Amino acid sequence: MKLIVSLLVSVFLAANAIGVSSPREKLRMDSGWKFHLGNEWGLGQNLSKAGSGTGPASASFSDASWRTVNLPHDWAVELPFDQHADGSHGFHPVGPGFPQTSVAWYRRTFDLPQKDAGKRLWLEFDGVFRDCTVFVNGWFVGHHESGYSSFRYDITDVAHYGGSNVIAVKVDASEFEGWFYEGAGIYRHVWLVKTSPLAIAPDGVFVYANFENNTPTKTAPIQIETRLLNFMTNAAETTVRCNIVSPDGKPVATAEKSETIGGAATATEKLEASISAPQLWSPESPKLYKLVTTVESSGGIVDREETEFGIRTVAFDPDKGFLLNGQPYELKGTCNHQDHAGVGSALPDALQYFRVRKLKEMGCNAIRTSHNAPTPELLDACDRLGLLVMDENRLLGSDAANLHRFQGQIFRDRNHPSVAIWSLANEEFGVQDTPAGVRVATTMQDLFKRLDPTRPVTYAAPVGNDFTNSINSIIEVRGWNYHVGPDMEAYHREHPQQPNVGTEQGSTVSTRGIYTNDAARGYVSAYDTNAPNWAHTAETWWSYFAERPWLSGGFVWTGFDYRGEPTPYGWPCINSHFGILDTCGFPKDNFWYYQSWWTTNTVLHLLPHWNWPGREGHDIDVWCYSNCRKVELFLNGSSLGKQTMKKNSHLEWKVKYAPGVLSAKGFDADGKVIAETKVETTGAPAAVQLKPDRAAIAADGRDVSVMTVSVADAQGRIVPVASNKVYFALSGPGRILGVGNGDPSCHEPDQFIAEPTFRTSPVDDWRWKKIRNAYQPNLPEEAEQFDDASWETVNVNSGRGVLEGVAQAMFRGRANLTAEDLAAPSVELIFGRIGGDGSVYVNGQKAGESHNGEMAMIFDVKRLLHSGENTIAVAVANWGGTGGIYKGVSLQFQEKTAPVEWQRSVFNGVAQIIVQSTKEPGEIKLTASADGLSPAVLQLATYPAQMSPSAP
Ligand code: GAL
Repeated sequence: MKLIVSLLVSVFLAANAIGVSSPREKLRMDSGWKFHLGNEWGLGQNLSKAGSGTGPASASFSDASWRTVNLPHDWAVELPFDQHADGSHGFHPVGPGFPQTSVAWYRRTFDLPQKDAGKRLWLEFDGVFRDCTVFVNGWFVGHHESGYSSFRYDITDVAHYGGSNVIAVKVDASEFEGWFYEGAGIYRHVWLVKTSPLAIAPDGVFVYANFENNTPTKTAPIQIETRLLNFMTNAAETTVRCNIVSPDGKPVATAEKSETIGGAATATEKLEASISAPQLWSPESPKLYKLVTTVESSGGIVDREETEFGIRTVAFDPDKGFLLNGQPYELKGTCNHQDHAGVGSALPDALQYFRVRKLKEMGCNAIRTSHNAPTPELLDACDRLGLLVMDENRLLGSDAANLHRFQGQIFRDRNHPSVAIWSLANEEFGVQDTPAGVRVATTMQDLFKRLDPTRPVTYAAPVGNDFTNSINSIIEVRGWNYHVGPDMEAYHREHPQQPNVGTEQGSTVSTRGIYTNDAARGYVSAYDTNAPNWAHTAETWWSYFAERPWLSGGFVWTGFDYRGEPTPYGWPCINSHFGILDTCGFPKDNFWYYQSWWTTNTVLHLLPHWNWPGREGHDIDVWCYSNCRKVELFLNGSSLGKQTMKKNSHLEWKVKYAPGVLSAKGFDADGKVIAETKVETTGAPAAVQLKPDRAAIAADGRDVSVMTVSVADAQGRIVPVASNKVYFALSGPGRILGVGNGDPSCHEPDQFIAEPTFRTSPVDDWRWKKIRNAYQPNLPEEAEQFDDASWETVNVNSGRGVLEGVAQAMFRGRANLTAEDLAAPSVELIFGRIGGDGSVYVNGQKAGESHNGEMAMIFDVKRLLHSGENTIAVAVANWGGTGGIYKGVSLQFQEKTAPVEWQRSVFNGVAQIIVQSTKEPGEIKLTASADGLSPAVLQLATYPAQMSPSAP
């Protein structure tokens, strides 16, 4: 009875703690950023005086005319293709040699209530490409170089409580970090996190199952580490309470610990719990538990955080290969970069899920985040949908900065059950066989093992049977890039204690829907026949690995095509051909090769398409991917023979072309027909079709529908050679994020940007007079009405100011405005130069200050203006040299932005359009039309969604 009562009490407490609220808030900062491409203002940081960033870094800078963007945002994908730009990065004019388009500024304002004073505020960036300098309210708060690691700044001290705050971020993508498309800008999410001064540290929770012998048993021992930060000066008695909730929402375990934490100190609490009959996580059954950590102090909850985790074990065995939950589990992986058609590297979360689903459909059970730390939301998608991850670090290096970034990656990612193995780096040709390279790799591996005792470590080595003096000699799991053959066997024999994995394998180069190589247009045939000289076709590598369990399986280069590395050609190709799917996620034929041997689905696929006018009577190579025991091929109903399928292989026929129907039947071992398929000669293009990946999306301003646009014949069959240009029109609560078609040589834009245009009008009716103290508030000369008729006139358009040496003066100018002027979306007041310290007033109200005579100053003044005559007054204090107002003053009016028309050609019958919801539920109407074809109209419902909170 006592036991029952105590159990009930603890279940009650657990349920109670699970529901409580705490001071912690995690606010999205994705919407409402202002963006400007180019840097006319230099460093931004004032190195001589604190809190006074210059140009856009200054709090009073006007960004009213800048374009509004939502995150994630990648400006590289907005730029046109340029043959002179770096091909391995996708021929966009960003990087070395393109200073005008490689630096940009972002600004965002947010409000903080007075009651936040006393809290701790963190500004978190999931990733910015790259080299960014962050300012808050004019204060420099940090500089972060790598474009792939997450970072955060404590902005508690410089925040403005009870008012408006401004973040300014200068992003400098002038240098590359990789040799592939990298994007440019704030291409991942930004968050504002508020906590109490005694709270769980950022990424401060680590939870994992710690089975003996790393093999699951009936009860899972759970280790929980909670790092606490106490920013208060006094010590605090603290209780950490952990409640674990099962995948089906039931409280299943609790643990707690009380301790005194010193003032201004950190502490790590270690707790243990156990879960009976754990529901193990695997790609096939991605069961997620939730750890709810609450921190109590002084009789109240001071923090509460939820952490999703999975219970599973991972290991690599030298003979059995990869083991998941103690069982051999073949890795059927793909390497992937992080860009997608239409959006570049700025993927909305829903697109991560789309990509993971596509890979899983093919039978892929693992990805390698080549060659960098992934976006956290990709790991969430892998946790939830079930995909193992090789989580890779960008660069080998044991310097302090690299280790710090690396540590951040481990802290951030180590709770994700999907992450099965860490990768130190990829193909460090210059150092991998040097003593220094070996020492650096050892230091990094040691750090991993210290911070994460649960996962193995590998290094993607592009070498054969190399061991002595090589990173291979110290690495826990030997990674193999592009090797198939006897040197692997020899290596395994000579190092029987070391497990192996195919870190980078394949890869076939192919173009979707193309069946002959065409160097001029940059297309490679989609038969599994072309691979660069360092690589292998799908069938070659997979049939080798599949027969050798000790290799653990491997990761194909690549799942999706990506921008850049247009191997085997150069311009006009702008993206890679390595993908099993193209940049949109449309499958190439090899998709069905892998699906045949990586899934248990019955697969039967024929290639090529059957539209070959002019080739009548000529031989066409017909291939079949299938896992049926036998396949019989038919042309227009006549059998062309039955063949037996060899495991991990394909079948081929030579067929004399005649239009009509090429069909196949697949048989099982008993001779029963288990699958049928066909390809048909289609008619001419007749209609456009639209098909969304999901029929309805959440009206949260973030969700997306990935739509297939296809061109079909009169019978509704997709025309596999169609290339019609399709025009889009959208109405309702949605917006188009991007378009693509998977054509590696297409130079059509992926995005159509409505760039604002402006007109300016000079303000040149100026007078001036010396005053005693330009800093004095409420000077009568600032006022809208003040008789300055007797003041001396001044030409503000000259090259130098009228003040010499130490002098103070008031300048007054006038501007006559019409109601039409004031209807402009933004009106800014621009001073060529204000030499000295300047305070600017419009109609008696302060517009801002200027403390930098070296650059133009821009003020947002629309709200201060009225129609008729307006007065501009500037109080200037000059402290040496010449000062005052010079190099012109003008008003800049933004004109109404003309709408843009989105368009894209289909490539071999299909294209893709990515549509995002707004926050209003309703019906998005998308029309797709093409000359001479009947248009498609699609209604996409957006349903009310629970909104995750955003910073105001
Ligand atoms: C590999 C490299 C990849 C990619 C690939 C192209 O050596 O690791 O990043 O460049 O070659 O084949």
